[in-house]
Amino acid sequence: MERRVISSTLDTVFEFDYSVQAEDMRSLYEKAKRDQWNASRDIAWDTAERDDGRVLADELIDIHGSPMWERLGETDRVELNRRIAAWRLSVLVYGEQGAMLACSQLVNIVEGTDEKFFQATQVADEARHNEVLERYLQARLGGLHYPMPDNERFLFDAILTDPRWYIKTIALQLVAETFAVSMFRMMSQAAADPVLRQICERILQDESRHMGFGMLSLPGVLKEATESERREMEDFTCLALEKVLTGFFPLEAYQDAGFSRAQIDEVRSYRRDAAARNDYAVYRKFFRRDMHTSMVNNLVRIGLLTDRVRPRLADLGVALTAVA
Ligand SMILES: [Fe+2]
Ligand SMILES: [Fe+2]
Repeated sequence: MERRVISSTLDTVFEFDYSVQAEDMRSLYEKAKRDQWNASRDIAWDTAERDDGRVLADELIDIHGSPMWERLGETDRVELNRRIAAWRLSVLVYGEQGAMLACSQLVNIVEGTDEKFFQATQVADEARHNEVLERYLQARLGGLHYPMPDNERFLFDAILTDPRWYIKTIALQLVAETFAVSMFRMMSQAAADPVLRQICERILQDESRHMGFGMLSLPGVLKEATESERREMEDFTCLALEKVLTGFFPLEAYQDAGFSRAQIDEVRSYRRDAAARNDYAVYRKFFRRDMHTSMVNNLVRIGLLTDRVRPRLADLGVALTAVA
């Protein structure tokens, strides 16, 4: 079995004061305990699959509605639907593994009992997400997996090797999880398979809590940061945003569905044109608006939407007007 060893050094902070110090953080921990669920028990795995075999709405496939799509027969459309779904879910399953590992480091590094307790719950949450998505791939998509994209690998390497908790939190709980909340929201709406919808809804509840950890813990760090620390945090925010927002193209899914190199080039150019015209299917439009709005609002709340960050965000196509 393939595995990857990432070397890192981190400080472990052993606390002796277990009283409540940060009430907001402690109540997030209380919510986490209250809202635990079990992937074995709480997902209706025996729900019948759809007769046509679709997992996601066809509208989530880049070429939906294009002349290429019109040329495909029903069997090919369904196959592409399942392969694209497996590609997306593979990306998410690696993200959950990475999040679990990063949070296990955070349990060690963060100061404060309330913070450590919450991070301990996030470790369990991310293990469950890793588990439930893997189960879905096995149960509904024949165990089909696609490799971890380079951008995702790069981002998690950066998260897992940086020794500072707030750098990990900026990349994970702020950038990646703000993105994940919108992604799971879109997938729950666009799921054709009710089991997938149920899984996305469950994960979504946990992810908003995780995003909450960043919202509670980061503003204080920004307030006390020196100029050079602030610049470093800004740069890391932009780096994480770039890795999350670019470079995700389900190449292997198209290849396995029998698309030739020329046809894949056609898919890419159709995608680029659609992006330039902002001509997305309704689910994607909703996703972009939702994600841009929450990303911008979260950056504002934390104090990271600075003059250095704004133009770089705009270059990535994030609509800064989203902020109220
Ligand atoms: Fe997760
Ligand atoms: Fe999470």
